[in-house]
Amino acid sequence: MYEPKMKLTQPQLSILRGEQGETKQKMLETIVRFGDIFNAPRLVKVTHKKGHLVTSFGINLLKPLYKTMSEINAENIKAVGGFTADPRPIDYVNVKCNILEKLVFSKIMYGKQTFYEEQLRQAGLSHKNAFTCTPYLKEVGNIPKEGDVASWAESSAVVFANSVLGARINRNSGMIDLFGTLLGYVPYFGLLTDEGRKASWKVIIKTSKLPEAQVLGSAIGMRVNDEVPYIIGLDKFLGNVINDDVEGYLKDFGAATASNGAIGLYHIDNLTPEAKKLGDSLINEGARQYVIDDEELDKIYKAYPIMWKHKDKPANLVFIGCPHLTLTQLRNWSKNIIQGLKETGRKKVAVRTILTTSPMVFELFKRETLYTEIISKGVRISSICPLMYTNNPLTNRRRILTNSNKFRTYSRARYMVDADILNCVIGR
Ligand code: F3S
Repeated sequence: MYEPKMKLTQPQLSILRGEQGETKQKMLETIVRFGDIFNAPRLVKVTHKKGHLVTSFGINLLKPLYKTMSEINAENIKAVGGFTADPRPIDYVNVKCNILEKLVFSKIMYGKQTFYEEQLRQAGLSHKNAFTCTPYLKEVGNIPKEGDVASWAESSAVVFANSVLGARINRNSGMIDLFGTLLGYVPYFGLLTDEGRKASWKVIIKTSKLPEAQVLGSAIGMRVNDEVPYIIGLDKFLGNVINDDVEGYLKDFGAATASNGAIGLYHIDNLTPEAKKLGDSLINEGARQYVIDDEELDKIYKAYPIMWKHKDKPANLVFIGCPHLTLTQLRNWSKNIIQGLKETGRKKVAVRTILTTSPMVFELFKRETLYTEIISKGVRISSICPLMYTNNPLTNRRRILTNSNKFRTYSRARYMVDADILNCVIGR
């Protein structure tokens, strides 16, 4: 038996000895070894029982994942509170592909998708369409409470839950998220502890207007890396209430901090729950300082590389919504595109445009007249992950534009701020 460094309770030791079956034993050993690497003194209970899995795609190469899932299914081990998962990689209805692309997706890349989704269902997937990276939105309903401990891995969801909801979640990896959810234990270290939630960076915003969420997040992520920033001066623009607009802003900001750096938690003075309660007592003595003004953000925006083969040619595909758009964002983008097309006198968008959102938000939006109107302009709405769609040599050759700094970081897509993307979409 593995000799743990951390202290385990009798029920945990019983699992580790294999008294509840070999599969649980292997899962717990993985969790304990993971915690031991970080010198976690013990395991703690997962209080938010609903998991969220980062591994949502049935990519052929992930053979060990399917084997582990088969063992979990064979022993009928299920997540007591169910779980959601990241977006699906394909949607042939709303994101059309040619025959060759379909062949690559269905046979070579994601040939195990149906098989894997059945494995997920047996392990406790909450709903056949529970695939989104925004599980924490009210339409999806996987919402940890303040102080809740959860076992998630999707970086954009972890940073949102920690920062905006006040939950306590480490940036785990795929499989660790699943094992923690199924067993109901995670190692106690990092962002689960009071000490780990303190800021070692003080970021002071001195811009003339509300910064673009994704550029600000990128700037802070690149400077702060995996530490915790305490951000001062942003409440001047965002106010001190997390309403629908602010929620969307923080979602996009956080995703950029987590992907352009490795931030798992940020505090915003007078806005996010812990900052409101504890104020600058959250800032560690000797914290480093980073001042952000218009010039700094402009410099960062201009430095993003353009990875297209033909840089001077226009985009031929636009993805908006990584992480998935909130309902308010989906409505705003639709209204802005429709209004912009009136101004440019065009009947349809100038470039193929796809807005991505969760299946639950999509369903609600379909009931609105705005949906019919935006679809009539040639825009498509989908619940896929644009990155998974792009992650192959065929689609990767496209000249893709996005307003997501996460998508830009992990693909050849070109980033533009919202206003510039809108101009491309409406042909201005
Ligand atoms: Fe979500 Fe995929 Fe972007 S998981 S955050 S849409 S890369």
